[in-house]
Amino acid sequence: MSEVFTKSMARNIYYGGSVFFFLLFLALTFDTSNAFPERDHRENITPQVAQGKAIWEENDCIGCHTLLGEGAYYAPELGNVYKRFGNNKEAIKGFIKSRPVNGIPGRRSMPQFNLTEEELDAIAEFLKWTSEINTANWPPNIQG
Ligand code: HEC
Repeated sequence: MSEVFTKSMARNIYYGGSVFFFLLFLALTFDTSNAFPERDHRENITPQVAQGKAIWEENDCIGCHTLLGEGAYYAPELGNVYKRFGNNKEAIKGFIKSRPVNGIPGRRSMPQFNLTEEELDAIAEFLKWTSEINTANWPPNIQG
């Protein structure tokens, strides 16, 4: 083996390394996309869950909240709110219905959305479904 580090050796390390990490990237991408169907339990997306997501979008909940880490940082993360509220859909509905709670200095307040009982059920069902996605504990903070 020669003592000098030649240009062609450097080139081989560069190309070899690029190919190796590109293949590793492809393999991990493949592995992740294979795991999705199980992790996002998409078979449980009922019409009510889909309706809840539509209401979530129409009312721009993401304008204040994050959902699984994505969104605005004004209000708490809601991907896990179903679990934080003791696996209780009624607690979520009650919270949304009872806003705003004013008069607490310095506390951010959530507006009243005047949702119907059916819409509240759908939102709660959507947040329940979201909380059951296997996110490998993402986001790492509990309450955004
Ligand atoms: C204008 C900003 C804003 C929008 C839009 C908004 N929220 Fe909120 N939300 C808040 C704030 C602020 C809090 C925390 C309020 C508090 O604790 O009193 C909150 C709290 C919550 C909580 C309780 C979270 C917890 O951890 O205690 C739920 C559930 C919730 N919001 C659902 C929704 C849903 C569903 C929508 C869309 C229909 C929505 N929010 C839209 C500001 C907003």
